[in-house]
Amino acid sequence: MRILSGIQPSGQLHIGNYFGMMGPMIRNMERGELYAFIVNLHALTSVQDRERLSRDTLEAAADFLALGLDPDRCIFWVQSDVPEVTELAWVLSTVTPMGLLERCHSYKDKVAKGIAPSHGLFAYPVLMAADILLYQAHLVPVGKDQKQHVEVTRDIAIKFNNTFGETFVVPGEAIDDSVATVPGLDGQKMSKSYGNTIPIFTGAKELKKRVMAIVTDSKPVEESKDPDTCNLYNIYKLFAPAARLREVRDLYVNGGAMYGKIKLELVDILWEYFREAREKREQLVQDPGYLKDILRQGAEKARAKAAPTLQLVRERVGIVY
Ligand code: ADP
Ligand code: TRP
Repeated sequence: MRILSGIQPSGQLHIGNYFGMMGPMIRNMERGELYAFIVNLHALTSVQDRERLSRDTLEAAADFLALGLDPDRCIFWVQSDVPEVTELAWVLSTVTPMGLLERCHSYKDKVAKGIAPSHGLFAYPVLMAADILLYQAHLVPVGKDQKQHVEVTRDIAIKFNNTFGETFVVPGEAIDDSVATVPGLDGQKMSKSYGNTIPIFTGAKELKKRVMAIVTDSKPVEESKDPDTCNLYNIYKLFAPAARLREVRDLYVNGGAMYGKIKLELVDILWEYFREAREKREQLVQDPGYLKDILRQGAEKARAKAAPTLQLVRERVGIVY
């Protein structure tokens, strides 16, 4: 089975990204042939700052490796290093109905948040479909917000196969229901673009500041509270050891849960949880040459996998003579 997912180099990695995508991808090294990549062409739809994009691309690589991705057991590369993907995206765009893209929530959400409504932003799901179909991936681990994009990919694959003959594997998404949407500080979906994140690789002071900013209600300590609707509890439960989580749950239900204390505990847990990765990342970012080598070797492997699919597509549609 081929498992594939990508992440945009568009800001600091947060715990939503970790539970929704990066963690499952890293665990999937055991399950099949793994394709992990950094989608810098997608990021261009929102980041138009060359230094930032270029820096964040290497930082995203460091994030992945620090959290345990082993480049010897997967194919790991930067999207733009495989130019075949843009040719495929164009061909796919010619079989993609406008209505399919017009229904995409992500485009509407991004425009509502102030991102310029460019053609690239509108066509974003077609490039994502090309990412997935070029490598004939079976499974795409993502957070819930990306489900619709994988559905669009499926629709495009089916349309192409019906029009030109069996060409692409029709992929499925893999969404872990327990962490499909990690809440942010304010209870909305945690997202870089909402400014409500808990970054994984940040300094101790900033981490504390973010955790202390988790929004909670103003019920008195003794009052019984519903843990499942509490934003703090829903973040805390992702990290706390099972026995301690039971104790805290009891405090919520029976009275006695002190938000400030739970937050301070969460800061310590988070700091320890990512300690090893943080230390590894600090070393990795000091060696950009190493990161670039890994990514270039990955791109060669990815291109070798992409080439036969693109050739088949060219033959199927007739861009050969
Ligand atoms: P962001 O919304 O912060 O910009 P991205 O769009 O870069 O995040 O998402 C990268 C990956 O992380 C995607 O697979 C996405 O589904 C997942 N993801 C992002 N935010 C969350 C979240 N709050 N909960 C679960 N998964 C998430
Ligand atoms: N759209 C995804 C996101 O914002 C990133 C992405 C691009 C992707 N191409 C992909 C994810 C292919 C999975 C597979 O998070």
